[in-house]
Amino acid sequence: MNVTHLYCSACGKEHEPKKLYNLCDCGKPLMVAYDLEAASKTLTRESLAGRESSLWRYQEVLPLDNPENKLCLGEGMTPLLSAKRLGAQLGLSHLYIKDEGVNPTGSFKARGMAVAISMAKELGVTKLAVPSAGNAAGALAAYAAKAGIPAFIFMPRDTPKANIVECQQTGAHVTLIDGLITDCGKIVGERKNAEGWFDVSTLKEPYRVEGKKTMGYEVAEQLNWELPDVILYPTGGGTGLIGMWKAFDEMQTMGWIGAKRPRMISVQSSNCAPIVRAFENGERFADEFENASTVASGLRVPKAIGDFLILDAIRASNGTAISVTDEELTAAVAEIGAATGIFAAPEGAACLPALRKLIAAGHVASGDTVVLFNTGSGIKYLEAFQ
Ligand SMILES: Cc1ncc(COP(=O)(O)O)c(C=O)c1O
Ligand SMILES: [Zn+2]
Repeated sequence: MNVTHLYCSACGKEHEPKKLYNLCDCGKPLMVAYDLEAASKTLTRESLAGRESSLWRYQEVLPLDNPENKLCLGEGMTPLLSAKRLGAQLGLSHLYIKDEGVNPTGSFKARGMAVAISMAKELGVTKLAVPSAGNAAGALAAYAAKAGIPAFIFMPRDTPKANIVECQQTGAHVTLIDGLITDCGKIVGERKNAEGWFDVSTLKEPYRVEGKKTMGYEVAEQLNWELPDVILYPTGGGTGLIGMWKAFDEMQTMGWIGAKRPRMISVQSSNCAPIVRAFENGERFADEFENASTVASGLRVPKAIGDFLILDAIRASNGTAISVTDEELTAAVAEIGAATGIFAAPEGAACLPALRKLIAAGHVASGDTVVLFNTGSGIKYLEAFQ
């Protein structure tokens, strides 16, 4: 394994590897550092051709030490689909959709949990807990079941039914809460020491982001090592955006790509848009968004612990943050469906009206290569279409 240490994303303090961590002493997320020179001796662009079709193909830049702890349900290496007809409707010649809906448990949350629960197993965790807006819970339940570690899940009562049922059917202990994901997070925080739970909340442990970063490696690989001009990412806690941004730096250090970066576009629902508001106000941290409510349950994150990392990446990339209404994002599911054959999650569909706004404002040009992240499958949200 090539991990050299962990470091704090805010204060920079270094922490030894091979130990269980949640946050840094300063209360901010920890990130993983690798010896990329060592990694790049065996992990080369050419070496990837013969490797397994899952995110574990990038194992030299993943944190696992002993391959026996690897929990794989087939996550990652999702298709990057050329959306020619949808692109033509928008006047774009190079529009792609990264279809994360085909992951195990029907969302990109599988990536983060595959790596985080493999690491939890490696580091001897005996009980797992998570507050979730829905899909992270389903993914945790699946990988915890694969690992044989009990999982304790706290979700808002109005979470899509598929998320509740999938957790129950994969053996997790599910508690429904009258409140938001932030309320669920407080319960996990208060009870975890007494119960002996390891908290795998987004960015409150260092490895989910490592799993999510593989989306950045895959997009580069699938576009033949030429990053797109624009990436649209539906943002809740922001782990995928933060992870991809880290992946781009790692790939540049290994000499796989140059300094060019995509403009990173964070897409939120206007009913829960803390990152958009902070971006527009020029702030580095995002205040809690009051009365958050959206059918795109994964975007219902009123306060993100990695807010500054999301905002830093957007600004460094010359990107932006943009909100769309629930009516716009719900209508976009059918538009994407009819034009591409992909039944998108409402979160992923939110990227379409956002893209339209960017084109209208002249921020995206017809020749730009644009990648839209469909982060989950619409099958998990049947209530949203009644
Ligand atoms: C389908 C879907 N899309 C997007 C998100 C937001 O992801 P992130 O927390 O990485 O910003 C979630 C989170 O629950 C989700 O389930
Ligand atoms: Zn710190």
